[in-house]
Amino acid sequence: MNRTPPQSLQAAAVRLGTPLSPGATRVLLLGAGELGKEVIIALQRLGVEVIAADRYPDAPGHQVAHRAHVLNMADPAALRALIERERPQLVVPEIEAIATDVLLQVEREGLATVIPSARAAHLTMNREGIRRLAAEELGLPTSPYRFADSLAELEAAVDAVGLPCLVKPVMSSSGKGQSKVDRREELAKAWEYAGAGGRVSLGRVIVEGFIDFDYEITQLTVRARAADGTTETRFCEPIGHVQVHGDYVESWQPQPMSAAALAAARDYAGRVTASLGGLGIFGVELFVKGDRVWFSEVSPRPHDTGLVTLATQWQSEFELHARALLGLPVESSLRNPGASRVIYGGVDAAGIVFDGIDEALRIEGTDLRLFGKPESFVRRRMGVALARGDDIAQARDRATAAAAAVRPRAAP
Ligand SMILES: Nc1ncnc2c1ncn2[C@@H]1O[C@H](COP(=O)(O)OP(=O)(O)O)[C@@H](O)[C@H]1O
Ligand SMILES: [Mg+2]
Repeated sequence: MNRTPPQSLQAAAVRLGTPLSPGATRVLLLGAGELGKEVIIALQRLGVEVIAADRYPDAPGHQVAHRAHVLNMADPAALRALIERERPQLVVPEIEAIATDVLLQVEREGLATVIPSARAAHLTMNREGIRRLAAEELGLPTSPYRFADSLAELEAAVDAVGLPCLVKPVMSSSGKGQSKVDRREELAKAWEYAGAGGRVSLGRVIVEGFIDFDYEITQLTVRARAADGTTETRFCEPIGHVQVHGDYVESWQPQPMSAAALAAARDYAGRVTASLGGLGIFGVELFVKGDRVWFSEVSPRPHDTGLVTLATQWQSEFELHARALLGLPVESSLRNPGASRVIYGGVDAAGIVFDGIDEALRIEGTDLRLFGKPESFVRRRMGVALARGDDIAQARDRATAAAAAVRPRAAP
């Protein structure tokens, strides 16, 4: 079989082909949401042939890819069939809910290279995998934690980590199934809520002691090919953000930090990403109090809070990811301070329209991304307002005003 050797793209000399021709460089995105859409646009600009997969038709990334597929990526047979059919050189997970066993297999067989690595995708899809790696193998400071498989075990876990604590399904994202528990009487409710919010009914939760941080950051970290063929690690300026119920609503860059906290953040980010390996961008989530830093979690892919980099960096996190995964050099520096603010659907409706776009864009230094999701929900992220500023305070004001000016409504 005439398969492109999987390492060829990431060998010292990188060449890119022509899309839709036999010499094409093919990349398969597993997940085609708003983050995937931006990665695809960055890849398209480099003449890459891009195939986008998601669980529903007309996902944001589907609309800008060469080919689109609809499937349940957690279904091993369906995922394997797609990879065999498309034969991409690179497979790029954009979401967590993927049959990562298939990715491990695909990598082992040399069928394709997984970005940043199948092991990274596998370990980070489960809170237990990444927490044990960070805390127990690498010795990074984290919140105290225990795992529990039943309400009785949960009660015992809380004795160990103390109150208040957070109860989270081991497989979930965007705060789903997660609750903060202040009193023991709330545990039964938290256990039930975790069962409903988890991705698979694994029934396992992590209980984390609550960290009373001053602020939290995303430390974007890029692993890219250096001129001598080795892998180098570069750091973006820290991104500060606000989360409501575990879902990001606002982010800004650069987040001011003490020199000691910044050094610790980069030390932890460098260690965890080196351990996960491969090429690409990582969003390392950290909590900070004074000079103290705790590792929270890491996504081996662009991070939602990093949407702000579309307005702040010479190369956004999406461009950094696209370049790094192709084995190309990257430049991670800040261009100017900026902020992002999420635009929610506000209504349950298909094919919504947005009023107030002109008002939003009349605010100096602003820009918008409307994701093109076919269906809106009240709390679904439908777009994001971006702003640059002389400082983060000005940028946050501008992004907040721009997001407020955009008014989604049901289509007439
Ligand atoms: N141990 C903790 N102490 C304090 N806040 C926490 C803790 N764990 C999570 N949070 C808050 O909840 C948010 C979401 O938690 P996270 O573990 O990142 O879940 P997800 O995978 O859904 O993003 C965090 O960004 C933070 O604001
Ligand atoms: Mg998180």
